[in-house]
Amino acid sequence: MRLDKFLAQSSIGRRRTVRIYVKEGLVKVNGKVVTEPAMEIRENTDVIEYNGKLVTYTEKVYYMFNKPAGCITARKDAVNQTVFDFFDDADTMGIFHVGRLDKDTEGLLLLTNDGELEHKLMYPQNHVQKTYFFWALGSLDEVRRKQLEHGIYIGKDEAQTKPAKLKIHKYGLFNEFKNEISCGNLNIKDSGYYNQPVVSGYLTITEGRKHQVKRMLKAAGCYVIYLKRISIGGLTLDESLEKGKYRPLTQAEIQKLFR
Ligand code: URA
Repeated sequence: MRLDKFLAQSSIGRRRTVRIYVKEGLVKVNGKVVTEPAMEIRENTDVIEYNGKLVTYTEKVYYMFNKPAGCITARKDAVNQTVFDFFDDADTMGIFHVGRLDKDTEGLLLLTNDGELEHKLMYPQNHVQKTYFFWALGSLDEVRRKQLEHGIYIGKDEAQTKPAKLKIHKYGLFNEFKNEISCGNLNIKDSGYYNQPVVSGYLTITEGRKHQVKRMLKAAGCYVIYLKRISIGGLTLDESLEKGKYRPLTQAEIQKLFR
C-alpha cells in the first residue's frame, strides 16, 4: 500500500496533509526517515512512525452535521462561530470537515477522521455528485438552464464548469413565496423585492470550486439568496436532524459513501 494512503487511513490526517508530513521528514519507515509519500510499504510488517510515535490503526468515525447559516467551516476562528463549536469536545479528536460550506450555506457537512474517505469524496477525478437546494432572485429560461447543465463560464481564466444536473422546483414572484424562503442574504422585509422573479431548484455538481453554485447561478443571471447542501454521493441529509446538530452515520450510510 502507498505510504500516504496508509497514513490517511490511520487517521493521521487528510491525504494532502500527510503528504506534507512525509515531505517534511516527520515519517519513518523501519527506523529511517522517508520523504516520498507514494512509497510502497508492507502495512502488516513495516514499522511506521509519525512524529516519533508508532502509527497504529484508529477506529474511524463519521459524523453528519446539519450546518446552520452563520458559522464558518473551520476549526478555529478569532471572530466567527465555527462548525466545531457545535460538537462535544470529546467527539472532535482527530476529526476534520470534508469540504467546505460558505458561512451563509446550510445543510449536509461530513466530519471524519478518515483521510481516505475525504480523498475519495473530494478528489475531482472521482466526480462525486453534490446536490444543493437553492432559492435565487431571477429567472432561468431554457437557454440558461441548458448552459448550467452543459457548462458555463464562471470566472476569468477558469475552465467551463463540468456538466451538472438542474431540477427546477418553483418559480414566480418573490411575494408568492416570501413565507417559505428563509434567506440570510437578503433583508426580506424590504418590499422592493416583492415583485421580483424568484426561482428555486436542485443543482447537482461534481466539482468543488469556491462558491461554485452561487457563481454558476450568477453567470446564468440569478442571485442566490438561500443555499443548502442536501446530498454528497449516496448520502442524503437526514431532515430530522435539527440545524446545528450532529450524529454518527449508520453503517448503511457509511456503505453508501464508499460505494
Ligand atoms: N457552492 C457555493 O456557492 N457555496 C457553498 O457553500 C457550496 C457550494
